[in-house]
Amino acid sequence: MIRTKLLGLGSYVPDRVVTNDDLRFLNDQHIRQEQPVIETNDQWIQQRTGIRSRRYVPADGSVNTSDLALAAAQRALDDAGAKAEDIDCIILGTLSPDMHFPGTAVFLQKKLGISGRNCACFDIRQQCSAFVYALQMADAFIRAGTYRRILLVGAELHSHSMDFSTRGRDVVVLFGDGAGAMLLGPTETEDEREGVLYTAAYADGSGAMDLYLHIFNIAHRPYIDYNALDREQNQVIFPQMDGKRVFLHAVRGMVMAAHAALAKTNMTWDDIQWFVPHQANLRINEKVVEVAKIPPEKVLNTIEWYGNTTAATIPLTIDYWRQQGKVKKGDRVLSAVFGSGYTWGAAIFQV
Ligand code: ACO
Repeated sequence: MIRTKLLGLGSYVPDRVVTNDDLRFLNDQHIRQEQPVIETNDQWIQQRTGIRSRRYVPADGSVNTSDLALAAAQRALDDAGAKAEDIDCIILGTLSPDMHFPGTAVFLQKKLGISGRNCACFDIRQQCSAFVYALQMADAFIRAGTYRRILLVGAELHSHSMDFSTRGRDVVVLFGDGAGAMLLGPTETEDEREGVLYTAAYADGSGAMDLYLHIFNIAHRPYIDYNALDREQNQVIFPQMDGKRVFLHAVRGMVMAAHAALAKTNMTWDDIQWFVPHQANLRINEKVVEVAKIPPEKVLNTIEWYGNTTAATIPLTIDYWRQQGKVKKGDRVLSAVFGSGYTWGAAIFQV
């Protein structure tokens, strides 16, 4: 039987560390001002979110989302001992694409030096749930024999698209830049617990307007019709969020998805080495762990120092803890994710 195996893992975060205290002095050019720009503070952010710092790319326009994706992808390739030429499919999750179209996967393909080769490129738009959605797609492609080396990447450049003002403080404190990548391929085995053994993806569009970024109003003509200098109108270029509703649905969705994953695979927490939840808010993850009765020593987080890197959080977190020596090759991970859409899901797989 053909199953999907993780061949390589890699991640990348930019060098610039922005602490909670730094953040409140930054303007939208990321330049430190003498007086605070955003009415917030380290204590509020840590208490409500667990976040201490996040990483930002330079604010000089030199880095795109595809550059973050490239750095993580190269590390995943090195980890697998593979070459870019081996890749026959790229699935890239991002909510902060290089441009509106074409998708970012083709820019990554070009930067990997494999443009024009036989390599399909998909962008997927499932925000914080992108990893599980992408893994489900990759697993289906590999088991069907459609592709043999799939590069799955989650990459986000949030720091250029947030409202650095008190108006945007509920969102700006949460997000950071980064990328995570996996190289996946087939393995022949009769062991049902090897490789990727479970994925499930869910969605509920009735929550779509609880967390969104408008920018384009394609139903109208012209479809961009705001005055960027007007603060009331320019709100459309920044993410909008009903934090309380997202919080409640995130806990419910991740608990449900984690329970279903164990029930459908006839597993218990004894069969799983690590629980890696999406990294949106440490309080969300603590609540999920409490309600779903997950052994706390099995939970891996990175939100404290990376914030929410959306599509990147799962591979980034696994790779971080692998580098710390905690996660080992062959360990079994249960991931639960929740994001804008609403979309959510869970996966069980071996590292
Ligand atoms: N600093 C200081 N005060 C703040 C800040 C801030 N950064 N942000 C909001 N506040 C204020 C509010 O204005 C409010 O003030 P008021 O009482 O005078 O009106 C007060 O703090 C309490 O605000 P709440 O929204 O009730 O605070 P809450 O405890 O819900 O925390 C938060 C807000 C952190 C946003 C939380 O709701 C949350 O994390 N929600 C989930 C968000 C999330 O997961 N988003 C990502 C989803 S994944 C994806 O797909 C992108």
